[in-house]
Amino acid sequence: MQQTDLKQIERSAIQRVKKAKSFDTLAQIRAEVLGKKGSLGLALRGLGALPSDERPKAGQAINDIKKKLEFALQEAAVRLEGRRKDAALEEGRCDVTLAGRRIAPGASHPLRIVEEDIIEALVSLGFEVVDGRQVEHDWYNFEALNIPADHPARDMQDTFFIGPQVVLRTHTSNVQIRTMVKQDPPVRILAPGMVFRNDDVDATHSPVFHQIEGLWIDRGANFADLKGVLKKFATVMFGAETKLRLRPSYFPFTEPSAEVDVTCIVCSGKESSCRICKGTGWLEILGAGMVDPEVLKAVGYDPDEFQGFAFGVGIERVAMLRWGIDDIRLFYENDQRFLKQFSPGGSS
Ligand code: DAH
Repeated sequence: MQQTDLKQIERSAIQRVKKAKSFDTLAQIRAEVLGKKGSLGLALRGLGALPSDERPKAGQAINDIKKKLEFALQEAAVRLEGRRKDAALEEGRCDVTLAGRRIAPGASHPLRIVEEDIIEALVSLGFEVVDGRQVEHDWYNFEALNIPADHPARDMQDTFFIGPQVVLRTHTSNVQIRTMVKQDPPVRILAPGMVFRNDDVDATHSPVFHQIEGLWIDRGANFADLKGVLKKFATVMFGAETKLRLRPSYFPFTEPSAEVDVTCIVCSGKESSCRICKGTGWLEILGAGMVDPEVLKAVGYDPDEFQGFAFGVGIERVAMLRWGIDDIRLFYENDQRFLKQFSPGGSS
């Protein structure tokens, strides 16, 4: 092997090492040059063919090239490793100077706000909150509430039937029955929740809406107690100046029954052109009455010993009055522009 050949091997190998862009290429060059069958390996083996006085020099030259190449390979490996780290850093790079993304804080839905306000107004009077069933047996939703199968009052609540005797509850009054069947008097409960009616959707109707039921049963509970509870409810919800009006009405499960109005929260009864109360000065907000003895009998209470009153409030209705909302659909559409107005930092 000539010196010039060795020089040639050295130069080209070192050049390739310097240009190498991957560890694989380095490994390949190592195999091709330093490996057993590599060009230097062959040169080493060819030493035997040289005259003996030339061998040491040639051997020395090969070893020098080996060392240089090893060194160049190591240097290249360090260089490639550095690049690999830089690339990894670059990939995971984040620009800490970018403006942050604002996380919008969640807020209570207006219906939830009203529900919680009503509960808060009344728990101080001793009411406790109970849950009820949405899919209900006819007996709890109608029959035990003094609404027999062919009673015309069933027409007041267009019903979704799940089966012949099973309905989606049309009101939260079913919880009155569920509670009284389970529990001896006294009873003081509030039952919020969804109710269902087979109504077409429009600005004031929805097949799903929300009510809160109140029930108070105790010895000697009377109509004045009912009025006191409703007064507290109305003043907390609509302001201290709010007045109540009870009009005679009819519900099968109460006797006597009343429809309850509050003074108009917009005009306080002073404007004949008021859009909200239509100039009447009053807004109807709930139904109430003394629990009918038939209902007490149905759940096994003695109506001579225990009396009570009940009321049912439409949560959507109260929310619409409170914020002057004129379309019930807004509550269910999840439009952020609507909902935002009720968040603590919003414009409600
Ligand atoms: N359940 C009635 C309805 O959905 C509302 C109601 C009226 C509930 C009078 C009562 C009540 O507890 O006493 O129309």
